Amino acid sequence: MDVMHEWMKRISVKYPIVQAPMAGGITTPQLVAAVSNEGALGMIGAGYLNADQTRQIIREVKSLTTNPFGINLFVPEQCVATDEEIRMADKHLRIYREELKIHDLGKFTKPKQAYEEQIRIILEEEVPVCSFTFGLPTESIVKKLKEKDILLIGTATTVKEAQAIEAVGLDIVVAQGSEAGGHRGSFLESPEKSGIGLMSLIPQINDHVTIPVIAAGGIMDKRGLKAATCLGAQGVQMGTAFLTCKESGAHPQHKKAIIQTTEDETVLTSVFSGKYARGVYNHFIQEMSKKKDALLCYPYQNELTKDIRRAAGEQNNPEFMSLWSGQSPRLSKEETVAELIQRMVND
Ligand SMILES: Cc1cc2nc3c(=O)[nH]c(=O)nc-3n(C[C@H](O)[C@H](O)[C@H](O)COP(=O)(O)O)c2cc1C
Repeated sequence: MDVMHEWMKRISVKYPIVQAPMAGGITTPQLVAAVSNEGALGMIGAGYLNADQTRQIIREVKSLTTNPFGINLFVPEQCVATDEEIRMADKHLRIYREELKIHDLGKFTKPKQAYEEQIRIILEEEVPVCSFTFGLPTESIVKKLKEKDILLIGTATTVKEAQAIEAVGLDIVVAQGSEAGGHRGSFLESPEKSGIGLMSLIPQINDHVTIPVIAAGGIMDKRGLKAATCLGAQGVQMGTAFLTCKESGAHPQHKKAIIQTTEDETVLTSVFSGKYARGVYNHFIQEMSKKKDALLCYPYQNELTKDIRRAAGEQNNPEFMSLWSGQSPRLSKEETVAELIQRMVND
């Protein structure tokens, strides 16, 4: 593969392949560094990390690769819930806590995001690439990051979001199609109105912005890379394909679920976190979908279901885990990062 776009030259990556940032322990330093060492762009999913954890993982990646890598942040959003709403939402979860024998009911604390501190750490550590999802960084943050020559990436699910990303000064837009695994990055319209398939999204975004477009959603092999390129993308961002790699920190049950799942078994759901995300259908989604009125907004719902997801993980019970996956699970493989990237780039 001999394509070399300007953005690739700027940070010196060999292949137009970005390993999607996946918050929640999946993007281990070993995964990120292996991707960067193979000539693609490894990305840390730092959305759930505190300041210390953020600095530590950046340093661990630096100790494993001298190639460029990136980090991804969740732009904080407003979520307001009264104590009564929190109590009600919590009540609906009790039955699952009993099922999982969770006895130590920790007190609900409103989650705090370390976003501002993470920005400071990224500047201090001079991470070569920083991407955002769930919204836009402020102009002053963009200015500070640009002063350090950090390549900036935003996530868009519509043309309007892509235009807003360009207007605030980011360098690249990830076009996230409705096929994508994990949380929707939508920030201007409701997820219902922003579920655009990737084949529609790439050329429409491409026609309305001047910055490079990187395609995300359902891409698992070189057919997807070629198709995205034909539609005008200058690269691909793949999550599910990297999640099942040996170096990923995904729970073995999560990997197994993706390997065994078919294209008709993933759904968009907000029951785990309060924000729409695509994952493998399971018992928790089935049951909680009947109680949609009792869900809190993100990140409160996420905080509330944390002990359930943790206990499910400890008990190897995939029925209560958030098994995020894109719509192409039949194309997933258990392999190493090197094997996946070689499959992508060898003709
Ligand atoms: C398990 C999982 C976690 C994800 N976490 C993040 C994240 O922290 N930040 C982000 O920008 N995107 C996240 N995404 C979305 C990816 O960036 C990307 O849009 C998606 O993986 C593309 O679809 P695919 O999984 O079919 O490749 C996540 C995706 C998955 C599967």
